[in-house]
Amino acid sequence: PSDARNSLPTGPLPVERTRRLRSTSALRSLVREHTLRPADLVLPMFVAEDLTGGDSRPITSMPGVAQHSLDSLARTATEAVERGVGGIMLFGVPTEKDAIGSGATDPDGVLNQGLARLRAELGDDTVVMADLCLDEFTDHGHCGVLDADGRVDNDATLERYRDMAVAQAEAGAHLVGPSGMMDGQIAAIRDALDVTGHEDTVVYAYTAKYASAFFGPFREAVDSSLVGDRRTYQQDPANGREALRELELDVAEGADLVMVKPGMPYLDVLKEVSQASPVPVGAYQVSGEYAMIEAAAANGWLDRERTILESLLAFRRAGASTVLTYHASEVAGWFRDGL
Ligand code: PBG
Repeated sequence: PSDARNSLPTGPLPVERTRRLRSTSALRSLVREHTLRPADLVLPMFVAEDLTGGDSRPITSMPGVAQHSLDSLARTATEAVERGVGGIMLFGVPTEKDAIGSGATDPDGVLNQGLARLRAELGDDTVVMADLCLDEFTDHGHCGVLDADGRVDNDATLERYRDMAVAQAEAGAHLVGPSGMMDGQIAAIRDALDVTGHEDTVVYAYTAKYASAFFGPFREAVDSSLVGDRRTYQQDPANGREALRELELDVAEGADLVMVKPGMPYLDVLKEVSQASPVPVGAYQVSGEYAMIEAAAANGWLDRERTILESLLAFRRAGASTVLTYHASEVAGWFRDGL
């Protein structure tokens, strides 16, 4: 019977052989469509008011990520910039919170102090970015101020965002990243910056931001006071079309860059937004994505380095110019040392 099989006439041989271009490393490299550079990466960092000296405090659910004192922030950010990362996105962890998030607009508030320190230390060698949102500073943990019924008051929040944007620009931020998903936030912030002489401050809009479980570890990272969720202002994970509407509005309101967040579960949204966007598009690989990779790698279930690089390259393939990732500094170091 085996003889009979051998004597059968062969079927048509493949005419197209896609494997041909995969046959050597040099050929693969020659035809590679997308690349990842340290300059594409932005490192999110946390500065905590109660930390002094060179202290930092590990974030349990994000192994390898920490809250920093001002000195520790400056040292760690400088190292990342020396490795070539494109920017630092800063979040503040204040010791005192109140209903309107006063610490966010106080020049002595921890975030503004952190921004000033980064700018003093790094000048224009990197892009100093400020998360522009009230949630770390409010005692209720919401991204805006509340009305008498306890709902997030959109328009009253815009007034706070205007002041926060100006405080951040005055502290030295090159760029502000409004992440609160309030309607009209980009126009309000752009106007506030322009009328105070900060025409050059860049606005990086968190354009498509979903009410996501993947933000879980971030709540520990910023000692969040939130009870409940953000579903009345962040997008429903079931919706894609809405992201394009948010894009249209943010661009019309003056966004210089737009972002999709989280990253990996929303690559379809990233792709659609990047195809439609007239401005550069970024992706944010959030705390939960980081935690998943670290947990699986710690168990030996995934090859850590390959998984990290593949996940970041996926954002570039889907159309992201910039990628925010807690792995930014480490990955940049890999490039420097040779991958
Ligand atoms: C809001 C903000 C959040 C994140 C970035 N900006 C939290 C939220 O919207 O609940 C999450 C980032 C992450 O999970 O890594 N200031």
